[in-house]
Amino acid sequence: MSINISISQIKEVTHQAYEEFKTNTVGKNADYIPFLANVDKNLFGISICLLNGQTITVGDTDYSFGIESVSKVHTAILVLQQYGAEEILEMIGADATGLPFNSIFALLLETDHPSTPLVNAGAIAACSMVLPKGKADEKWNAILNNITALCGSAPHLLDELYKSESETNFNNRSIAWLLKNFNRIYDDPPMALDLYTRQCSLGVTSTQLAITAATIANGGFNPVTKKQVFNSELAAPITSLIATVGFYERTGDWMYKSGIPAKTGVGGGIMGLMPGIMGISAFAPPIDKSGNSVKAQLAIKYIMNKLGLNVFSGKQINIVE
Ligand code: DON
Repeated sequence: MSINISISQIKEVTHQAYEEFKTNTVGKNADYIPFLANVDKNLFGISICLLNGQTITVGDTDYSFGIESVSKVHTAILVLQQYGAEEILEMIGADATGLPFNSIFALLLETDHPSTPLVNAGAIAACSMVLPKGKADEKWNAILNNITALCGSAPHLLDELYKSESETNFNNRSIAWLLKNFNRIYDDPPMALDLYTRQCSLGVTSTQLAITAATIANGGFNPVTKKQVFNSELAAPITSLIATVGFYERTGDWMYKSGIPAKTGVGGGIMGLMPGIMGISAFAPPIDKSGNSVKAQLAIKYIMNKLGLNVFSGKQINIVE
């Protein structure tokens, strides 16, 4: 079955979603990182990037918020590009943990691999893998350049967030040293942890995340900058990682209800992608108990359901003028 979706329909449904949920007050800003507790809880934005590079935006889509765990996707792409898909499977893994993002228990259960680059243990391992090994500044440049290429423009470090996060990341410090204990970190642990903390502290807009998602949905070709950011063969493995664990222990529920692979961050951002069709991102700081933005989830689900978009539907979708 084939369905046509017009760009004006997408715009209309995006505005409807914004109006429907803008006054929703469910959820609470993340407070285990003090900086995040003080972000304006009423901020709300939705961005879509189509594969022709056109963006559709509503609300606070120019506001730079903490990318947090969404950055795990960007750096997973970087190490996939540097090492190849087989090597990532071997050195990190591609399984869901079924447990919270920062679970030490998950690491103790599977001591032979930290499961996936999209939970904290695997993301810290991924930062340790970034080349060139042993050179913090060059590794950081590689991480930042890759995020910039995916977003289509440079994100900026939120210094206060970085400070706040560095001063309170005791759980992640334990993860970094446990990885060392199990020989599953591939560079200096404090260095890898600092790179991870820094990438989480980058400020991005929902539009930059929608462009990232569209780039993945478009086989690694950024539709805005018109540049090939990563090898097109890596689009399927990275999308499978997002679909498997993008919402941590809530991923099954999310996929079941929304039909779109998506990745969340405790800064309130969610980035989702429909392969071959578009990237979408929504941002609103209040999160649920699993660390996922309440309003961003509602908005993305609403838009997908109203447009009849679902990766599992088997429908052929055509975006028309
Ligand atoms: O590792 C942390 O605690 C944060 N820097 C990132 C956590 C995060 O965004 C989890 N996702 N929803």
